[in-house]
Amino acid sequence: MAQEEGVSLAEVRARVGASHGITDLAPKLHFYDSWAPDYDQDVATLQYRAPRLAVDCLSQAFPGLPHDALILDVACGTGLVAAELQARGFSQLHGVDGSPGMLEQARARSLYQHLSLCTLGQELLPSPEGTFDAVLMVGALSDGQVPCTAIPELLRVTKPGGLVCLTTRTNPSNLRYKEALEATLDGLEQARVWQRLVAWPVDRWELATSELEVGPNTLTEGFISGIVYLYRKVEVT
Ligand SMILES: C[S@@+](CC[C@H](N)C(=O)[O-])C[C@H]1O[C@@H](n2cnc3c(N)ncnc32)[C@H](O)[C@@H]1O
Repeated sequence: MAQEEGVSLAEVRARVGASHGITDLAPKLHFYDSWAPDYDQDVATLQYRAPRLAVDCLSQAFPGLPHDALILDVACGTGLVAAELQARGFSQLHGVDGSPGMLEQARARSLYQHLSLCTLGQELLPSPEGTFDAVLMVGALSDGQVPCTAIPELLRVTKPGGLVCLTTRTNPSNLRYKEALEATLDGLEQARVWQRLVAWPVDRWELATSELEVGPNTLTEGFISGIVYLYRKVEVT
């Protein structure tokens, strides 16, 4: 059930902080199912900025007209990324997510032409190779969510010359995952399948939910830090 107005920061921190301790995918997706009706309000309370930052980054580098572009929002959740995309003129939007509850909220936004249930790391994306002008994945690269091994699948469905925008958190509790992610990203660059355009560190990513998330040099007035990456898939030669 959707929460009453005026939920306190302490309540949100307790609810969301508990989910960070879930490091297996099935219970994590189950948590998202139950959280879905309250997700938008809770992440607004935490001043979660990743959807806006990622879409800013993508739209500044996007070479064509936004309304001509076909975009895939991976781990789309309730559709916060779609709302940001639409505000910048991107209107052809597809979404996938592993949580039926989150997809139900996304469907209610009426911003996506197609929404599909798909669990990254276990299933392939439901699109042919080279379909999308840009692919985003925001807020889903961490332990118990999307494994680093799923990154090549994002590249597969991106058009040659298309863009891939990813985010992750850079606070202490996510640093081990971030290192593995960067090894994957760098490996694909060394294999010359994509080229890094942007790696944008951001101090005020969202409010921390617990002491476990914070540490020296990562906490700015209660915020944890994060990073936005942007890559261009190489053209076929
Ligand atoms: C923190 S939410 C982010 C949602 C949205 N991108 C945003 O920024 O508001 C993470 C989303 O990733 C989805 N997710 C996590 N792991 C997944 C996986 N392996 N495959 C598909 N979706 C996954 C969850 O269901 C959830 O909707």
